[in-house]
Amino acid sequence: MNTSNSTLNNIRKVLITAGPTYERIDPVRFIGNYSSGKMGIALAEQCLSHGLEVELVLGPVSQHIYQHLDSPLLHITHVESANDMYEACMRIYPTTDAAILCAAVADFTPEVVADQKIKRKGEMVIRLIPTHDIAAALGKVKTDRQLLVGFALETNDEEQNARGKMQRKNFDFIVLNSLQDEGAGFRHDTNKITIIDKTTKTEYPLKTKHECAADIVEKLLKTPL
Ligand code: C5P
Repeated sequence: MNTSNSTLNNIRKVLITAGPTYERIDPVRFIGNYSSGKMGIALAEQCLSHGLEVELVLGPVSQHIYQHLDSPLLHITHVESANDMYEACMRIYPTTDAAILCAAVADFTPEVVADQKIKRKGEMVIRLIPTHDIAAALGKVKTDRQLLVGFALETNDEEQNARGKMQRKNFDFIVLNSLQDEGAGFRHDTNKITIIDKTTKTEYPLKTKHECAADIVEKLLKTPL
């Protein structure tokens, strides 16, 4: 383990978002997604092994995913909805040197949350409104002494979409994972990533999420500020 906390670009404290968000419909139902949180937890472990302080903002995931993480350098903030995650990130990001946004944040949330369980009836329409784009919001407040890293999961025109996203959200680099790759993405223990920055593109073979996290953190620590 490398316990030194001085890095080339002086990154010492990293915000990581991980897991899904749950958007409430009524007291017993929500809109969620299949994100397990594994990639974000692997990133947190990797940062800790480099002696970095980690602020993990974690959506609802099963406890066994993170219960082995135990370090005085780790602080976990549990959140449920995209709005909770937005508020936590806006509070925490200014206290950190970098953020890696790995969470699968809902893009829409019910306009109205019913306060009683909705009864079965004929058809049912739920009107959804957009959530905060956390990545874009952090990209706006980012200072020249901070880094911002995003993920993209694309189904088509992957590189072009990822580059557009990196620019719009002011990321320093973006980690692309394609749903078209066998073994990559949600719920798997493996992932196949491509790291894209303003000038380079590096494709990695299928690896465990831990190995992918090592590649991503190495890139983070080598990115000049
Ligand atoms: O636009 P898209 O959702 O594909 O962007 C993915 C990236 O943006 C990821 O890094 C994800 O964590 C982040 N994101 C976010 N807030 C949202 C939606 C996505 O931070 N509301």
